[in-house]
Amino acid sequence: MNKRPFLIDCDTGTDDAIAIMAALGSPQVEVRAVTSVNGNVSENYTSQNNLDLLEYLGRTDIPVAHGAVRPLLSGIVNDEGGTGTHGKTGLGTITLPHAQCSSFDCRIASELVYDLAVECAGDLELLVIGPMTNIAIALCNHRDLAGLIKHIWFMGGAAHGGNVSPTAEFNIWVDPEAAHIVFQSGIPMTMVGLDVTLKAVMTEEDVAQLRCKGSKAGTLAADLLDFMLQRRSKGGEDLVMHDALALAAALCPECLTCKDFFADVEHTGSYTAGHTFVDLRGVSGRAPNMSVALEVDPSLFRKWLVNAICSVPEK
Ligand code: RIB
Ligand code: CA
Repeated sequence: MNKRPFLIDCDTGTDDAIAIMAALGSPQVEVRAVTSVNGNVSENYTSQNNLDLLEYLGRTDIPVAHGAVRPLLSGIVNDEGGTGTHGKTGLGTITLPHAQCSSFDCRIASELVYDLAVECAGDLELLVIGPMTNIAIALCNHRDLAGLIKHIWFMGGAAHGGNVSPTAEFNIWVDPEAAHIVFQSGIPMTMVGLDVTLKAVMTEEDVAQLRCKGSKAGTLAADLLDFMLQRRSKGGEDLVMHDALALAAALCPECLTCKDFFADVEHTGSYTAGHTFVDLRGVSGRAPNMSVALEVDPSLFRKWLVNAICSVPEK
């Protein structure tokens, strides 16, 4: 089977880590690189989490690159780790063994994106599950990049509502200018926003299934979900698999119902910066520039995710 080459750009983060493991357990995917960005926690944590996670799972063959430590323009930087949704380090209360035999790629994220895109000659797909800063920088530095990316599958935005504000979703809100650049790039892309991700919620039965698998990935995923159960018990977010659902859009398309729309990002509003305008009614007169996920089959998604994580090879 010809594997699909993917680069994962992420702000690891608890749900990012679960999405990365699902990608590693999907036989049709070849994870070619993981790039890190400031988001859930600061970039020094997100990048270290990526390096530690891949070494922990025996995948030191996958390059990990440092990325943007701050957004293009907005001032949103988690400079001392997070304290809420993903805990101080980004992996909740979990401490992975510090990577001993792997080091960061010598290239910065945006250059690794470009080099891989050239190497894959138009076949590279991007899973973008944090703020879009690295991708925007890569597009600004390489005029031919847009023509080399097969598809961007991203978690971000919402056709209705928001989480970090009533009108904005976190990934887009952190760097709305970057998102605007990516949205306007002409690259084929699929938006997996809060409209569907908030319904992609794991259950305690799923946690038990993952734990009883007894593998490193299954146990780590169960530990991450247990952290989310604790978080929920204190009034925090549910066991929402925002990022893994963006991967499911690529690998299990039957989990989602998508439709093409024009979408753009509000990046100048005092109260609405980070809002994703999805032209559901066609009032803009602009041609669609992306596919937008509108509905999800939560039970099919949960089954897919548990199976993918339980399929991560034990190394
Ligand atoms: O709004 C949810 C998104 O923000 C997810 O990608 C989560 O990891 C955080 O980055
Ligand atoms: Ca994320």
